[in-house]
Amino acid sequence: MLEQIIPIIREAGRIVLSARDAAARTREKTSAADLVTEYDLAVETFLKEKLPPLVPGSVFFGEEEEENADPSRGWAFIVDPIDGTTNFVRGLRQSAVSVALAHDGTVEYGVVYDPYKDEMFSARRGGGAFLNGQPIRVSRRPIEQGVFGMGTAIYRREYLEPTMRLTEQLFRRSCDFRRLGAAALDLCNVACGRTDLFFEYSLCPWDQAAGSLIVTEAGGFVCTLEGGPLSLTDRCSVWASNQVNKDLLHELEV
Ligand code: IPD
Ligand code: CA
Ligand code: CA
Repeated sequence: MLEQIIPIIREAGRIVLSARDAAARTREKTSAADLVTEYDLAVETFLKEKLPPLVPGSVFFGEEEEENADPSRGWAFIVDPIDGTTNFVRGLRQSAVSVALAHDGTVEYGVVYDPYKDEMFSARRGGGAFLNGQPIRVSRRPIEQGVFGMGTAIYRREYLEPTMRLTEQLFRRSCDFRRLGAAALDLCNVACGRTDLFFEYSLCPWDQAAGSLIVTEAGGFVCTLEGGPLSLTDRCSVWASNQVNKDLLHELEV
């Protein structure tokens, strides 16, 4: 299945790279912080045409769909056509195409592609995680030697205070932190040991479905900030870490 999905996602990445003047081809969805470009729509349309025929009977659950199917039953593709749209609009070259394939509510395959670095992260449940075909592992660094990633849950401003409180607690114990603006890549950075931990108070299923499988298949640990499983149907918080920092969550005020 990954062999079939990966070339399609690589081609979707070429649509991202082909973008010219993305800022002019942008409209606001709910606010100036919530954008969609012609390219998000073009990538999603392309993936909607190419992916479901790979799995007869599968449904498509994409960020830009007007009406979405239920991704928790049968086979479902869960798709973020461009994760990191604000980066994309501003030419920051830090965005990814994210595709998960779930069965009855469990993610079985995950692919996240950064077209700028030509980095293809992939995982199959029980089959390990890979970057451009090479196995990847989470780091072994404790938080004291760590750099963590965080997201600001921009569409849920009510999480501002807890986000800053948790950032402060972790920052005091770590070397530094990063806010990249693309949650799927934040998760892949944990998976390949570039960072040691990531959290965000509110993410949609398409932001985290593929990346969270890639983290667990790379030997890492993923849960919500309440310690439960991630959701494929609703927004939820996300904590992803290597094994060394797994229990840190219990020591923090979240
Ligand atoms: C967003 C990015 C961002 C995260 C937001 C997401 P989008 O996705 O992943 O890093 O902080 O919560 O919604 O809107 O660029 O696809
Ligand atoms: Ca996203
Ligand atoms: Ca998106």
